Amino acid sequence: MKVKICLIGKGTVGKCFLELLNKKLPIFKHKFDIDIVIVGIFEIDGGLVNKSGLNIRKVIEMDKDFRKLNDWKFNINPLDLISKIDVDICIETTPTNPETGEPALSHIKAAIKNGIHIIASNKGPFYLKYKEIKELANKNACLIQYEATVASGVPILSIKKSLGASKIKAIRAILNGTSNYILSRMASEGIDFSIALKEAQELGYAEADPTLDIEGYDAAGKLVILANELLGWSKSIQDVKIRGISKITPQAIELAKSDGYIIKHLAIAENNSLIVEPRLIENYSALNISGTLNVIELKTEYMGSIVLMGRGAGGYEAASAILNDLFYICDFLKKDDNI
Ligand SMILES: NC(=O)c1ccc[n+]([C@@H]2O[C@H](COP(=O)([O-])OP(=O)(O)OC[C@H]3O[C@@H](n4cnc5c(N)ncnc54)[C@H](OP(=O)(O)O)[C@@H]3O)[C@@H](O)[C@H]2O)c1
Repeated sequence: MKVKICLIGKGTVGKCFLELLNKKLPIFKHKFDIDIVIVGIFEIDGGLVNKSGLNIRKVIEMDKDFRKLNDWKFNINPLDLISKIDVDICIETTPTNPETGEPALSHIKAAIKNGIHIIASNKGPFYLKYKEIKELANKNACLIQYEATVASGVPILSIKKSLGASKIKAIRAILNGTSNYILSRMASEGIDFSIALKEAQELGYAEADPTLDIEGYDAAGKLVILANELLGWSKSIQDVKIRGISKITPQAIELAKSDGYIIKHLAIAENNSLIVEPRLIENYSALNISGTLNVIELKTEYMGSIVLMGRGAGGYEAASAILNDLFYICDFLKKDDNI
C-alpha cells in the first residue's frame, strides 16, 4: 500500500521531519507494509511536486538549495494544487498568524474538503477554530492529528487514548518555555524581569518581540487545545483569562520564597474555566520545573495526578511528534484497508 504525503512549510520543523522520516521509512514498511511517498513539498514561494514521489534523500542533501532540484516550480501554491495531486495526508508546518490562524487554516480546510487527513504542528487553527475544523473533518471522514502543537514531542494529546477508564477532570501546566526560563532565572539569581528577558533573548530562548510568550497568549493557545482534546470542551482563545509575567518583581519572588513558595506562570483548566496567570505553587510541587521545560499535570478520576514533563520546543522534538501522528494515521489506514 502506498501513502502519499504533502508537506507544507520546509522550515525548522519541516526539515527535521524529512530527516526523521527518511531514517524511519523501514518502520512503515515492516510495521504497516506501507510505502510512504512524498508527492509535494511547498514553501511560501513555490513547491516541489512529483506525482510519482520526490527523492527525499536528495531534498535533504540539497538543504537550502532544494529549489535547484528539477521538480521545483516557483509561484505554485498548495491551495491551487491540493485538489489536483493525489494526496492521502497533508502535513502542515507553516508559522501561525495568532489572530487569523493563516495560512495554515486555509491549507487545513482545503485539504479536509478534498478528503485528505491532516497532521499539523501549527496551533493557531486549533485554538481559534477548533469546532469548525473538527466538524469539517467529521463530515469528510478525515483524521486530524496535532500532537506537536502542545509541548512539542511530549505525548500529551495522545495520552487520552491510554486513559479511557479514568476521566481527566482538570489540567495545570507550564506550557511556555520562555516565560518559565525568565521566572526561573529571576528566582535563582534575584535579577529583574528585564535582565532575565534580555538573557533569554541572547540565548535564543525568546523572540525579539517576546509579547506572545511573556503575556501568556502562547500558553493560552496551548491550554485551549489541551482542554478541548482532553476534557472534551469546545473553547477558543477568547475564553481564556490571560495575565502575563512582565509585572513580577524580584521582591515578590523573594517574599514567596520566604514562605516556601515559588511563582510560576500556570495554565489552568478546571471547573469550566481557562486561566493563564502567575500563581504561587509549593516548592515541592511537581510543577516546579526550571529552565525552558514544559510540564503538564492531569487530575484524573481514579488515578490521582499524572505528570508529564519534557522539552516543549525544538525541531526534532516537534518532528518526532509528527512522526508519531503519522504512525497513528498509517495504522488506521492499514486497518481500514483490511476491513
Ligand atoms: N520550532 C519549534 O520548536 C516548534 C515546535 C512545535 C511547534 N512548532 C510550530 O510549527 C510551525 C513551524 O515552526 P518552524 O519553527 O518550523 O517555523 P519556520 O522555521 O519559520 O518554518 C516555517 C516554514 O514555512 C514556510 N512558509 C511560510 N508561509 C508559508 C506558506 N504560505 N506556504 C508554504 N510555506 C510557508 C516558511 O518559509 P519562509 O521562511 O520563506 O517564510 C518556512 O520555511 C509553527 O507554527 C510553530 O509554531 C514549532
